[in-house]
Amino acid sequence: MQAFVIDAYKRPVHPADVPDPTVGDRDVLVEVGAAGLNQLDEKIRLGEFRQLLPYRTPLTLGHDVAGTVVRVGPAVHGFAPGDVVFARPRDHRIGTFAERIAVHEDDVAPAPRTATMVEAASLPLVALTAWQALVEVADVRPGQKVLVHAGAGGVGTVAIQLARHLGADVATTASAQDADFLRELGADVVVDHRTQDFAAELSGYDVVLDSLGGDNLVRSLTVLRRGGIAIGIAGPPTPRFAKEAGLNPLLRVVMTALSRRVRSRAKALGVGYRFLFMRADGRQLREVAALVDSGAIRPVVGRTYPFEETPTALAELGKARTRGKTVVTRA
Ligand SMILES: NC(=O)c1ccc[n+]([C@@H]2O[C@H](COP(=O)([O-])OP(=O)(O)OC[C@H]3O[C@@H](n4cnc5c(N)ncnc54)[C@H](OP(=O)(O)O)[C@@H]3O)[C@@H](O)[C@H]2O)c1
Repeated sequence: MQAFVIDAYKRPVHPADVPDPTVGDRDVLVEVGAAGLNQLDEKIRLGEFRQLLPYRTPLTLGHDVAGTVVRVGPAVHGFAPGDVVFARPRDHRIGTFAERIAVHEDDVAPAPRTATMVEAASLPLVALTAWQALVEVADVRPGQKVLVHAGAGGVGTVAIQLARHLGADVATTASAQDADFLRELGADVVVDHRTQDFAAELSGYDVVLDSLGGDNLVRSLTVLRRGGIAIGIAGPPTPRFAKEAGLNPLLRVVMTALSRRVRSRAKALGVGYRFLFMRADGRQLREVAALVDSGAIRPVVGRTYPFEETPTALAELGKARTRGKTVVTRA
């Protein structure tokens, strides 16, 4: 089958003929209809995650899929050929930029009934990230104040809608031309990240979801009320994360050092900081699908490319201004 692979870290993505996936006992073989792109694909290509997620090359990239089940392993009972599904395959089993992928059934869910294949493929990684940040870690309650940075991005467009659905007052940072669009999605306050200083505008927040890291994260701590929490998805990772992920002692030392500044600033302000690295979860994707079908979450697809143009789509990710997600489609 055809897939888009890298032969080594830092090498270009190119089409290749690769063996069909092996279908394990609990795997669902999915004919890929569409695949969402994520910055994580490019970060993995560049080797930025090789300590955390060591992959062997050649490697097929791609973390998001929507498609049709063509075969299931002998121990799979929840899915059958013909089902339309979506998934973020677990780490070490990625590879959605391909004609087919075998995904562990626990990572798969029926696609939202009301979404197109392209829309469904835009959701898994970013929606799971938003869910794990706002529901699992922060446990957002009605009336709380939530700041979602980079509201017009893949994570941001879903996180704004989810925070709103949970009953929060939502602020976001974005470019001025996206302000009206983000208010429609559910943002109460939009701060122009090019001309305004969000740290001067906002205060008393319960939760910040930060996807930018660095100074943006450190300054985000100052908009929190005492006891509030900042959740960082762009880093830095913390010793707690290293411990929970079972990382080796050297990585724990590195992560302790990388996060020292933000952790000590958070402590001084009486607020919390957690680093989140999202994980595959088909059960949570069912919740996401239900929210899409109820109208609470609208997938935002800013750009689509034919499957054959996957390398171009990846090269343009982050360069071409896009609202929401970029998706490649085989339709
Ligand atoms: N740890 C995890 O589990 C996890 C999961 C998902 C994503 N991530 C990471 O989170 C980051 C965001 O992911 P994504 O998929 O949402 O990316 P994306 O779709 O590429 O988001 C880009 C958005 O960021 C906005 N932006 C850039 N600088 C900004 C600033 N200073 N203030 C406010 N907005 C700004 C851009 O707006 P303009 O065009 O207006 O500048 C654009 O809308 C990436 O680094 C990704 O790797 C981590």
